[in-house]
Amino acid sequence: MVEIIEKKRNGGRLTREELAFWIEGVMDGGVPDYQTSALLMAIYFRGLDMEEITDLTGEMAASGDQVDLSMVPGIPVDKHSTGGVGDTTTLIAGPLVAACGGRVVKMSGRGLGHTGGTIDKLEAIPGMRTGLTIDQFIAQVSRIGLAVAGQSAQLAPADKILYALRDVTATTDSLGLIASSIMSKKLASGAKAIVLDVKVGSGAFMKELDDAIALAQAMVKIGQGHGRSTRALLTNMDQPLGRAVGNAIEVAEGIEVLQGKHAESDLRKVSLMLAENMLLAAGVYPDAQSCKRALDEALASGRALEKLGEMIAAQGGDARVIQRPERLGQGACRLDVKSASGGYVSAIDTQRIGHAALLLGAGRRKKEDAIDPMAGLLMRARLGQKLAPGETLATLFASDEALLAPAQAALLSAVTLRESPAQVPPLCYGWVDESGFHPTK
Ligand code: URA
Ligand code: CA
Repeated sequence: MVEIIEKKRNGGRLTREELAFWIEGVMDGGVPDYQTSALLMAIYFRGLDMEEITDLTGEMAASGDQVDLSMVPGIPVDKHSTGGVGDTTTLIAGPLVAACGGRVVKMSGRGLGHTGGTIDKLEAIPGMRTGLTIDQFIAQVSRIGLAVAGQSAQLAPADKILYALRDVTATTDSLGLIASSIMSKKLASGAKAIVLDVKVGSGAFMKELDDAIALAQAMVKIGQGHGRSTRALLTNMDQPLGRAVGNAIEVAEGIEVLQGKHAESDLRKVSLMLAENMLLAAGVYPDAQSCKRALDEALASGRALEKLGEMIAAQGGDARVIQRPERLGQGACRLDVKSASGGYVSAIDTQRIGHAALLLGAGRRKKEDAIDPMAGLLMRARLGQKLAPGETLATLFASDEALLAPAQAALLSAVTLRESPAQVPPLCYGWVDESGFHPTK
């Protein structure tokens, strides 16, 4: 191990065998944390080339269970977001793709910190089971084309160990380590096609476009290097994607999009772009035009909405919510947050909006914390919009009156108004496929 650390420290490249030796040692305790920490720091300064990243990801994916989805007919496709606020795209794109003949396999996590998690959102639906066994998961995808469940398998346990060490050794922020961390879990979860939504902006973990493009390109190459058809979209996170931030409230908004509402919303646009890329990655249609046509039809006919209902019913949930999303409920205590001054909305600190929702009870600070599915907020202000003094910026929902004031303070400090109109960032910067980055025109 000392030789491996020294080699990387001196700028050398590590072979697959050396990376395998390290990861095996991480798993069986043969390599102590102090040596792993030293190697992580050497990697932080010296970097990893694409072959090293691909090899490392393969070793991490092989450190635990590797889900076998070969029994699922067709090409099962997974969708992964690097983490956003008000980002309910899975609950919209998943049913859309399944309604167009795709097979959507999504193993999802819970929310932590300012970003929400799809599993928490689903559990806001009465009766909904998210803990499927692998057999149940495969049977459901084969039958209805769609399953979204929590991780039951031990996926890439080496990543858990490395992530915890990176966190306490200031080595989180390394492209190769981030890309291998994310993709190791995707490879282990067994999908043959993978679509990544790499978020860029104030609410994302990549604040700069160049960094996000580099990360997207690395992840697409890793996927391809392991025989997975992989594509990535780069989408803006300078404001919450949808208006709703929370759990029940986000599910309700997702249902409304599938009902044909919010036709001009960013949430609907990004969900459709992701769905199109999922269909392309899985090879369900030959080109973007035919994907778009199929998706428009699935949305307009209500088949995508019905597909969501089928998934909810299959997982024990109350599928009546697809007709009446108000059944999901919202916190009984409510507050309209008003702007003191007027002006154009020029910046939204999206991380802070996520934090405001957390303060209302919608999120957790620590893994063990409980969340309140009925808590959350509805953003009224969007970037570029002109507001009069006293206009409502957002409406807050909580189950406890005392939680409203701190969330209001967080929200007020998150929104910046200016006298002159502000530039609104593009919603999608482009996409990455096997031929590279394609900027949106
Ligand atoms: N998400 C992950 O899973 N890993 C990282 O390193 C960063 C974000
Ligand atoms: Ca090699």
